[in-house]
Amino acid sequence: MRVIILGSAAGGGVPQWNCGCPNCLDARHDARGRMQSSVAVSADGERWILLNASPDLRMQLAAHHELWPRGMRGSPIGSVVLTDGEIDHTLGLLLLRESATRLPVYAPGGVTTLLGDEWPLYRVLSAYAGVEPRTLAEGRSVALADGAGTPLGISCSTTAVARRPPRYARARAPATAAFDVALRLTDERTGGTLGYVPTAGAIDDAVRRVAGGADLLLFDGTFWSDDELTAAGVDAPTAREMGHLPVGGAGGSLELLPRLDAKRVVLVHINNTNPILCRSSAERARVEAAGIVVGEDAMEFEL
Ligand code: MLT
Ligand code: MN
Ligand code: ZN
Repeated sequence: MRVIILGSAAGGGVPQWNCGCPNCLDARHDARGRMQSSVAVSADGERWILLNASPDLRMQLAAHHELWPRGMRGSPIGSVVLTDGEIDHTLGLLLLRESATRLPVYAPGGVTTLLGDEWPLYRVLSAYAGVEPRTLAEGRSVALADGAGTPLGISCSTTAVARRPPRYARARAPATAAFDVALRLTDERTGGTLGYVPTAGAIDDAVRRVAGGADLLLFDGTFWSDDELTAAGVDAPTAREMGHLPVGGAGGSLELLPRLDAKRVVLVHINNTNPILCRSSAERARVEAAGIVVGEDAMEFEL
């Protein structure tokens, strides 16, 4: 399986339009930003699956020749898999509206409901190419397929991770609805496995199941500390309140990730305020000393 990190930043990207933090200032000056959270995977290098559809999708597709159209119209994207219904992971679906055919979108049941109603992307897109919603049932492995039903050579299983519905959701959610899942993808030919967990409120049994024995784990690197935003003077909830286990501090993921049995761990969905983005920071050095990689846009892996 080929894996490309299309965007390594959390919602807002780097620089975020209204942010004057040191990382955003640096990114504006050296024009080295980071795009928002998304990954592309492929079993054959020809047909691709998008994991989340970020607001930067147009630039992300332009940045990788593997994702360019092969003819006058068309796309090598066979399907999209959503881990949640957050704006930074779904807005990009609107940017695929020029498609000639309905786009298959795999998502947990709770997310499919949100996108048909409270954040009505599917209703809006139905006036364009439309979406074919496909539900990812918890714990069951699905062979991902394109719009014609042709298997893409990768199977996917999902595990709910500790998290509430997105901020925009008003309706009371049924207690069983999954709004946020971790993915475990397996290349059916090579057996290569990817754990994809852009949001994790804890390192618990759900995460251990997804990470165990994985060739690569792409993990939630949103915040270094629980009070990162308030300490920067922003009126915002804590990292844990937002459902993101901080990387640093007591009980942070840096202590726990090396104990998960994944062969490689790469942090993704990194917020612009996170000091690990600064190459000379003490926090970056601690991550690297633990054998964990700070993800970058356009990083590629072969599993
Ligand atoms: C998150 O990852 O917590 C969300 O994307 C936050 C947001 O964009 O509102
Ligand atoms: Mn996010
Ligand atoms: Zn910033």
